[in-house]
Amino acid sequence: MDTSRFERIIAITGAAGFIGSNLAIYLVLKYPDWLFVNIDSLTYAGNLSNLAAIESADNYCFEKIDIVDFASLSDCFKRHEFDSLIHLAAETHVDRSILGPANFVSTNIVGTFNLLEAARARMATAPDFRFVHVSTDEVFGSAAEGEKFHPDSRYRPQSPYAASKAAADHSVRSYFNTYGLKTIVSNCSNNYGPYQFPEKLIPLVIHNALSDIPIPIYGDGLQVRDWLYVSDHCRALDVVLNDGKAGETYLIGGGTSTENIDLVRKLCQLVTEKTDGKDREHLIEFVADRPGHDRRYAVDTTKIRDELGWQPLESFDTALASTVDWYLANTEWVERCVSGEYRHYYKENYVNR
Ligand code: NAD
Ligand code: DAU
Repeated sequence: MDTSRFERIIAITGAAGFIGSNLAIYLVLKYPDWLFVNIDSLTYAGNLSNLAAIESADNYCFEKIDIVDFASLSDCFKRHEFDSLIHLAAETHVDRSILGPANFVSTNIVGTFNLLEAARARMATAPDFRFVHVSTDEVFGSAAEGEKFHPDSRYRPQSPYAASKAAADHSVRSYFNTYGLKTIVSNCSNNYGPYQFPEKLIPLVIHNALSDIPIPIYGDGLQVRDWLYVSDHCRALDVVLNDGKAGETYLIGGGTSTENIDLVRKLCQLVTEKTDGKDREHLIEFVADRPGHDRRYAVDTTKIRDELGWQPLESFDTALASTVDWYLANTEWVERCVSGEYRHYYKENYVNR
């Protein structure tokens, strides 16, 4: 591939997943003179059909690589002269991390370490190489009533997922402090929107409501999450990539603190209104709580707003309604996810819990 015409060459790990695919589509269309290389191993959560909008774009290509495999990663870094990397590849589902933490340790910790090493080697010819590490607000644990996470909040991860992301965050910062690698960490709250795997709350509720099957609420359902529409996260990562200061941490969130039970009821109503008018709330079932379940997340986004000029643009009500529309229009996509391995996993672990 002749890459000489490109002004920049940027690796995106995990671009076949939910946020990664939304981000890759956004960036590939926005920057036609930059080449974007998707590095993804296509786990159960990776789906190349998410990228249909850009699969034939000449400023996009795909490398099927497991980030745990350092030799393949290193070879990829030699073939493409990356100037930056946006790292999203991860095992991301808290429930799976409770059932089996091993993959979380290998992908999220060892995989991130491998990328840091590949980037450190790249610094010999690209000293300004930028490494954007996409992380989560879950590293901070639960926020007390009235408290908001800020960039200096103490790390208190509760789940194996959160602990693996915390370990990765610390490793990334250590490469800035030790080797001068231009790293930036972003910690974001819960995302929602198109292409989210239907094991996560919002697409799961929409799918179950449409399929007339129980909607499980963990514990009392009064846990609070701060929801951000995925396109707002993509815009934030764009500004972090381009204008974020090396060594810094930016917190990203929607400012939409909502109790799970209220969100689930709202989704049931939306599905009812947009389909056959039949009640869905009777499908809600309170089930055993998630072990180590964080009670409340809330994010202070002052820093990214004041320093990089970012703020969410989407209203929660409007974006939630358009998310429901997307899942109604893409039931085939959902069915493909819900078949095979996921169906087995779901039945084993959730039905009648
Ligand atoms: P996802 O689970 O939808 O997708 C993860 C992607 O990573 C998939 O394409 C998968 O194939 C790929 N992947 C997994 N293991 C890999 C490996 N070993 N090698 C190469 N590729 C691998 O994830 P998501 O929800 O889009 O999250 C993306 C990133 O954003 C993650 O790092 C996550 O921690 C972070 N994040 C997510 C949210 C959220 O609400 N979803 C919020 C804050 C931060
Ligand atoms: O906060 C950012 C994090 O948001 C990301 O780092 C994670 O990758 C992402 O998965 C998400 O984590 P959560 O655990 O918050 O998301 P999930 O959709 O699994 O759950 C949202 C809330 O809903 C949580 O309080 C658990 C609850 N829940 C979830 C499911 C799947 C239920 O009550 N029932 C369910 O069936």
